[in-house]
Amino acid sequence: MIKYIGSKRALVPLIRAAAAQLPVRTACDLFAGTTRVGQALRMLGLEIVSNDLATYSEALGHAYVAADRSVDRDRLASILRELEALPGRDGYFTEAFCRRTRYLQPHNGMRVDAIRDGIDRYELSPVERGIVLSSLLEAADRVDSTTGLQMAYLKQWSPRSHNDLELRLPPLVPGPPGTVARRDANELAPDLDVDLVYVDPPYNHHSYFANYHVWETLVRWDAPEQYGVAGKRVDCRDRKSRYNSRREAPAALEELLASLRSPWLIVSFNDEGFHDPGGIERLLAERGYVGRVDVDSKRYVGAQIGIYNPRGKRVGRVTHLRNQEHVFVVGPDRARIDAAIHAATASGARAAAGAANAAAASRPAA
Ligand SMILES: C[S@@+](CC[C@H](N)C(=O)[O-])C[C@H]1O[C@@H](n2cnc3c(N)ncnc32)[C@H](O)[C@@H]1O
Repeated sequence: MIKYIGSKRALVPLIRAAAAQLPVRTACDLFAGTTRVGQALRMLGLEIVSNDLATYSEALGHAYVAADRSVDRDRLASILRELEALPGRDGYFTEAFCRRTRYLQPHNGMRVDAIRDGIDRYELSPVERGIVLSSLLEAADRVDSTTGLQMAYLKQWSPRSHNDLELRLPPLVPGPPGTVARRDANELAPDLDVDLVYVDPPYNHHSYFANYHVWETLVRWDAPEQYGVAGKRVDCRDRKSRYNSRREAPAALEELLASLRSPWLIVSFNDEGFHDPGGIERLLAERGYVGRVDVDSKRYVGAQIGIYNPRGKRVGRVTHLRNQEHVFVVGPDRARIDAAIHAATASGARAAAGAANAAAASRPAA
């Protein structure tokens, strides 16, 4: 899985344990990112709609949420072998992300150029294409030279960036095949007809589109004009999510929650963002019973090593190395919510033994 800020890697066992207690058959991972929550829910047997505005998330959704046994994996494995054997080519990616900036070493950037061009020469269904693109995305992520964000790159090449890019076939996730969307969450919300929605929006001013611009370009392959030391896509300047604005985010979330028709919701936030957990809890209480689990967790890896600009100069101090994640479970049946919170707390405490501390409370609707 790619490195992704706000990814719910640590919370997945907890969310899965909570969802397993609910009477649900279908679910939407509305801000899917890496798709890891959708994957976990799929493994529970739920039929998933994986949605995110990012094009790379759409590719991951095809690979991990939509792909099923009907995919000819032998054919894809042999396509990946052919792509991997292509000689490197000095193209847009190498120039933009390996010389003008330093996200990958040029020897790997040239292979990305050759492989990504090569992918477009195969006749592939959207799911097959998503699998092959995800393979390249993950291969590039394994040899990048960042702390996991693409607003800067390391001054010295990271040790992993010296390795050769290697394509692997993404595994098939067990469970029923789902579908993938690339729509604004607030526009999709009223059209959704699912039992459960997992809501994990961006929580502060950092734009995912800008933070993962290299992956967006790798998948779109549209060779955009770049700006600034980070070499971002020019459209990063005008593509802003309402969820990245302190002023607009609360209204965006309120509108979203009001337009979701699903009886069950799981909502997660951390304490580094715009949203006040108490306010969210009150908002959610309008929809039914609300249970809440608070989890202490280690902050993302970038914070562990400090904040530097592209020239390697320290530009910020890390204020704290731990944060708190809040997970809310909402629905019409108090007993189910209690069971979900109980299971989530037990699993969260087990998964994070020694490193995290989960506390829970369940309240009736206001
Ligand atoms: C906190 S991250 C989700 C992380 C995800 N749960 C995971 O574990 O990987 C928020 C996601 O929302 C997406 N996003 C931002 N604004 C959006 C919008 N208006 N509609 C849909 N997705 C949006 C971003 O691209 C990002 O992937």
